[in-house]
Amino acid sequence: IAEHPRITVVGVGYLGATHAVCMAALGFDVLGVDVDEDKVAELAAGRVPFFEPGLQEKLSEMLAEGRLSFTTDFDRAADFGDVHFVCVGTPQSDDSDAADLTFVESAFEALATRIRSKALLVGKSTVPIGTADRLTRMVAARSPIGADLELAWNPEFLREGFAVEDTLHPDRLVFGVASEWAERQLRAVYAPILEEDTPLVVADLPTAELVKVAANSFLATKISYINAMAEVCEATGADVDLLAEALSFDDRIGGRFLKPGLGFGGGCLPKDIRAFAHRADELGVGDAVAFLHEVDEINTRRRLRLVDLVRELAGGDLEGTRVAALGAAFKPNSDDVRDAPALDVARMLSLEGAEVVVYDPEANENAHRTYPDLDYVDSLEEAVTDAEVVALLTEWDEFGEADPFALGELVNTRRIVDGRHALDADKYRDAGWEYRALGQPAEPEVRVSLAR
Ligand code: UDX
Repeated sequence: IAEHPRITVVGVGYLGATHAVCMAALGFDVLGVDVDEDKVAELAAGRVPFFEPGLQEKLSEMLAEGRLSFTTDFDRAADFGDVHFVCVGTPQSDDSDAADLTFVESAFEALATRIRSKALLVGKSTVPIGTADRLTRMVAARSPIGADLELAWNPEFLREGFAVEDTLHPDRLVFGVASEWAERQLRAVYAPILEEDTPLVVADLPTAELVKVAANSFLATKISYINAMAEVCEATGADVDLLAEALSFDDRIGGRFLKPGLGFGGGCLPKDIRAFAHRADELGVGDAVAFLHEVDEINTRRRLRLVDLVRELAGGDLEGTRVAALGAAFKPNSDDVRDAPALDVARMLSLEGAEVVVYDPEANENAHRTYPDLDYVDSLEEAVTDAEVVALLTEWDEFGEADPFALGELVNTRRIVDGRHALDADKYRDAGWEYRALGQPAEPEVRVSLAR
């Protein structure tokens, strides 16, 4: 394999499209391949089929420079690449918490049966521990070139909304490899990133698989930890924002991922902790990660608690109450509504009879596809007009920057639940709003300002 390997990326969804574009940006010739003709056509025409800051510009640039193309032809992909990244999805199965590996298996098989000269297959998808070993055996059995087709695992830690930045400047790289040759290929691919002194951990295949789920489980646990403290705060009159702030000054704890609120969602954390617990059970070590079930439940309880708060503000009954739901995406700067706490709350409010009007700056379309029965509007102003309760569910900057006096003129009643601790409570109270947040007393007796 050349110093400057040619790269294919199989699966050009969220992860794969970003990876393909960024590999081209690093100077490689890249071919993206997918079974989805629409997705391939969109990308080939220079359009990113989802919202991700910065990716659109980079895609156009790379297409113009001729280093990046897309295809549905797996024969072409097999001939093209020296290193083949597999970036297909591993969603939660329909009937259990286990990860559905159908796409991963068919991608590896499609490549294994077609590749005819020495190459490296690199899994990037998040998979149950042991998958890479199993795929290695499958590839060896199906490949016409046998041991010349090797397999490695290279987990991806990118965050939505920062996908380009995280891919080009990752915190660390992890290579799961079974030979020095495989390590050399990955070093060649990531040379420009390694030159920036990015930490690299070279590991065996199972460790590389485990790093990813262990990291996501840790992050989910940290969020649920502070949200569990919010529950205790609610029972005692303590204030979870001040608590989180005080904890954050301990370097050993740190303030990141310690933001209380409506909890985690998205295409990764929820399904990853469930699949991990499921896999641990299969391996006979379910007890070791049984706490992940609690992490999941704490997370779900936040959504129910938020609905309680809205009901409380509405006077005990949601029937016929007009509620402005601000946000639908699982987090700001994303149009992703997979397992989104915001959309879930909107749905639950509507099930209790509330008239829910949803506004999200980017995710309305995806949200509408998921829950067509809710009302969607195109602006913050429209959403809050005549609202009896406003519920902030995703902390888009636009909501934090809104003027509580101006909003107060539009609503029917000045009542707001801040599900993400994103608003200036004092400002809202001064503007005549009844302001409530998770994990905070209804009326703080002493006004305390953060970070003095
Ligand atoms: C996550 C991981 O961060 C990333 O490394 C992995 O590759 C994929 O999963 P992502 O799903 O894009 O990335 O979102 P992230 O920014 O991690 O946020 C996850 C969820 O946690 C969001 O719903 C967010 O609102 C919530 N969150 C995050 C909190 O509730 N509190 C926090 O303090 C941080």
